Amino acid sequence: MIKTRLKSENCGELNLSNINQEVNLSGWVSTVRDLGGIIFVELRDRSGFFQLVADPQVNKNIHDVFSKLKNEYVINVKGKVTRRPEETYNEKYPTGQVEMYPEYVEILSEAKTLPFVLDDENVSEDVRLKYRYLDIRREKMLSNLVLRHKIVTAARNYMNNLDFLEVETPILIKTTPEGARDYLVPSRVQEGKFYALPQSPQIFKQLLMVGGIERYYQIAKCFRDEDLRADRQPEFTQIDIEMSFVEQQDVIKVVEGLIVDTFKAAGVEVKPPFIQMPWQEAMDRYGSDKPDTRFGLELFDIGDIIMQSEFQIVKNTLENGGIVRGIRIPGGAKYSRKDIDDITKLAVSFGAKALANIIYNEDGTAKSPVLKFVTEEQAKQIQERAGAQTGDIIFFVADKPKLVYDIMGRLRLHFGKTLNLIDESKHNLLWVVDFPMFEWSDEEGRFMAMHHPFTSPCLEDLDKLDSGDLGNVKSIAYDIVYNGTELGGGSVRIHSSEVQKKIFKALGLTEEEAVEKFGFMVNALQYGTPPHAGLAIGLDRLVALLARTDSIRDVIAFPKNSGAKDLMSDAPGEASLQQLRELHLKSTAHQHK
Ligand code: AMO
Ligand code: AMP
Repeated sequence: MIKTRLKSENCGELNLSNINQEVNLSGWVSTVRDLGGIIFVELRDRSGFFQLVADPQVNKNIHDVFSKLKNEYVINVKGKVTRRPEETYNEKYPTGQVEMYPEYVEILSEAKTLPFVLDDENVSEDVRLKYRYLDIRREKMLSNLVLRHKIVTAARNYMNNLDFLEVETPILIKTTPEGARDYLVPSRVQEGKFYALPQSPQIFKQLLMVGGIERYYQIAKCFRDEDLRADRQPEFTQIDIEMSFVEQQDVIKVVEGLIVDTFKAAGVEVKPPFIQMPWQEAMDRYGSDKPDTRFGLELFDIGDIIMQSEFQIVKNTLENGGIVRGIRIPGGAKYSRKDIDDITKLAVSFGAKALANIIYNEDGTAKSPVLKFVTEEQAKQIQERAGAQTGDIIFFVADKPKLVYDIMGRLRLHFGKTLNLIDESKHNLLWVVDFPMFEWSDEEGRFMAMHHPFTSPCLEDLDKLDSGDLGNVKSIAYDIVYNGTELGGGSVRIHSSEVQKKIFKALGLTEEEAVEKFGFMVNALQYGTPPHAGLAIGLDRLVALLARTDSIRDVIAFPKNSGAKDLMSDAPGEASLQQLRELHLKSTAHQHK
């Protein structure tokens, strides 16, 4: 405790051991209650609450000041800690057995009536964000920020103990390879030129390896101009790590230790090693590269059975590179026509053209519009493959693989949630490994890096790079997944400028574009680059999950809303014409006004 003229003790730390001690307290008036002339004030500071009492019979002057107090006034009091009469003990607070009749009181600051009641759980998030400085006075927000601090401290201690060096990397940079849209900052002194804000410190941390740092970490701010969701912010924080002379398993081991320590800071015990699941298996069983393994409902494949059948429309899909995956819902035979329609509509909203179902009735018969396309034997095979019992229903979709996985993965999560199958007490951590190197983008009409272009392809797939068989190139990339959320991701990096050039080429960058964008990086690789690998954990997501909140906004002191706006300061704001002129910019938005 730092003792100052205004404060010698924390409110929430006083108890019977402090009886008769003279203390000097400052804080906020949390509640004022006037009970027949005696005024009770709940004084609050960061540590907790402490009860003050003003009795006109005891001290008229103090009582006079207390009668002026309103909620959220900031006051300073001095006096002796006394024991409460036993019948008034309040077991809810650690300080519930003590109180003070102040001998001195000073109002340090008055407060207007707050725009919302602090402990009202139903205040809209917009209002809370507009007055975030008041929102932070709420116990929930405070405890989230405390938890965040504890987790960051645990991370720093862990990394420091392993000889990692914390190095800051720049915020005004050129561009990052992470694939989201950049935030740009116009340069005043270099006319017509722009900095980008880093989407991650990726390039710089690799250059630190070239620089011989060997073990780097940083609690790094990252900026991505992408569509926002509950688990995405335009600026967010990573626990960013890079190591030299290591392979995938070394990084995994270091990160598992980091997970153990940061979870411990939140009171959660987890035990590595965590399962390592190949990407293809995750997709096949869960329809997701971040599988929630807290419940079953695993997907199954009936493609081979359908290929034997007369189910022409689905056979055509399979013959054209499609796949079919199904899910079994125990007890689903009781679904009404409308229930099934609703589920079908949901699948359609996920992108499905159709959702087939087979109902296995209690009387042993099966009902489905698709049974007319399959023989009795095939129907039986399907039932066996699904593991379907009487009383169950199965759903399946055939389409392009990416779409089928996405639809079925989302349906599975829907059923997991709505059927209450998720055991919230579980802490399931797993690694997804063996990611494909590339992913076809219909939008861009080309292959994109699934992770980022500095990720090393699997060495045995190097010839596929040359032959152009990009869809089958695997990468040495890995993600850490916690209860169905991607907490972090990383990879072994390319440390040969030749391989790096090949990857840029495969991504459709011309040599000039590659040089213009990442030339300094490729250059650096030519001056003695150690094999290196790393990973970044999304700190906001980690804290949100451990704080058991759905939104990372709840663990960020001053977040943006879903429109990337700061409702408190009203950022982003307009620039004056003078500022724009200095930056050599013309705003089309301005001209419209
Ligand atoms: P990646 O892009 O997978 O990897 O990011 C790592 C982790 O950062 C978190 N994250 C976010 N959190 C909040 N808001 C966002 N908009 C957001 N975007 C990402 C996620 C994610 O798992 N440079 C690589 C890491 C590496 O290869 O070492 C990278 O940034 O939790
Ligand atoms: P019908 O329209 O009666 O000939 O039956 C077609 C059946 O096939 C319907 O039950 C559809 O739901 C199902 N179906 C059609 N296309 C697909 C698909 N891509 N995936 C799954 N089921 C499909």
